[in-house]
Amino acid sequence: PHVHQRILVTGGAGFIGCNLVRHLLDRTDASVTVLDKLTYAATPAALDDLPEARFSLVVGDVADPTVVDPLVADHDAVVHLAAESHNDNALRDPAPFVQTNLVGTFTVLEAVRKADVRLHHVSTDEVYGDLALDDPKRFTEDTPYRPSSPYAASKAGSDHLVRAWVRSFGVRATISGCSNNYGPWQHVEKFIPRQITNILAGRRPRLYGAGEHVRDWIHVDDHSAAVLTILERGRLGETYLIGADGEHSNLEVVRMILRLMGRGEDEFDHVADRPGHDLRYAVDAGRLRNELGWLPAYGDLEAGLARTVAWYTEHQHWWSPEKAATEAAYAAKGQ
Ligand code: NAD
Ligand code: DAU
Repeated sequence: PHVHQRILVTGGAGFIGCNLVRHLLDRTDASVTVLDKLTYAATPAALDDLPEARFSLVVGDVADPTVVDPLVADHDAVVHLAAESHNDNALRDPAPFVQTNLVGTFTVLEAVRKADVRLHHVSTDEVYGDLALDDPKRFTEDTPYRPSSPYAASKAGSDHLVRAWVRSFGVRATISGCSNNYGPWQHVEKFIPRQITNILAGRRPRLYGAGEHVRDWIHVDDHSAAVLTILERGRLGETYLIGADGEHSNLEVVRMILRLMGRGEDEFDHVADRPGHDLRYAVDAGRLRNELGWLPAYGDLEAGLARTVAWYTEHQHWWSPEKAATEAAYAAKGQ
């Protein structure tokens, strides 16, 4: 494996980033720097108790080369997560998605090209569009790109930039495309935390449309372990899909949460559907399993959800300041 001593994590104050930083500090001897703009989505509180000798936070914009170039040159690997990540926000205002996800990735690519630094680009299964409910096939690394939403299109474009920089400039990069994550520190705008915190706040869960849409859920710690595996042992220039065989309809997930929280299975509301709503995502992670030996440790969604419900119950002080504004933005769209 390629061992890295100084790892730069862009977007490391976000949901996946803060969990990944902990994983890197626990599982390697590397020191870790986070570059993060601290947007509404950041949770710097999640980084408060990290060891000062091995961790630092730089506040800055990933699309600003005067910040990114010297930082990148001072590290031997970059894991790039900084992005606007929420589909519903992209439908309200796509501008920051194009700026951060495309121009930000371009800025990182130019920096790693100039300094010859190893890059891992964290992307999503949404670049492949959606599948029919009864399609026996799942997404693989060979599935054609067919993004549906402004968020997915911006991530798809960022993947194309990375591949072009690998082929044209010999940049040493890998890409991963992960399915839907859940776990601690996820913003209350996202599906699972929104429903758990709705119930904790005395509201009912909100299901878009009929709830037949399927997502392929993976615990965020399994995503982190996969990213570290690819960073250390992935083939340069290669893409690896990450998923844990966790397909469930949104209706099933809402009912699981209601059951776990001692409520009736039908104590939720149907609300306006998301425009352009992708019907189903499903990931075949065969390449990552067979080539690099990665396996998910959290197989069972219901057990993972039970721990996540407990976590949100214990961290009300963290999420409650965000809750009212998040719900007001949804209410304005009938959601
Ligand atoms: P998040 O929204 O929770 O966190 C994003 C972080 O990026 C925040 O800390 C934010 O402050 C930072 N950021 C935003 N714009 C920035 C800028 N211009 N400069 C520097 N920092 C900036 O997102 P997340 O769910 O943790 O997702 C992280 C990455 O993983 C994204 O690239 C996303 O596309 C990808 N991904 C997410 C999932 C998922 O299920 N959440 C699945 C697959 C891939
Ligand atoms: O597939 C990976 C992607 O997963 C990541 O790339 C994105 O960054 C991440 O946000 C996530 O995208 P989704 O759009 O699938 O996640 P979200 O949590 O917004 O919604 C999950 C499903 O639940 C989706 O079908 C919409 C639905 N939903 C969402 C909310 C917020 C509801 O039914 N009710 C809700 O209140």
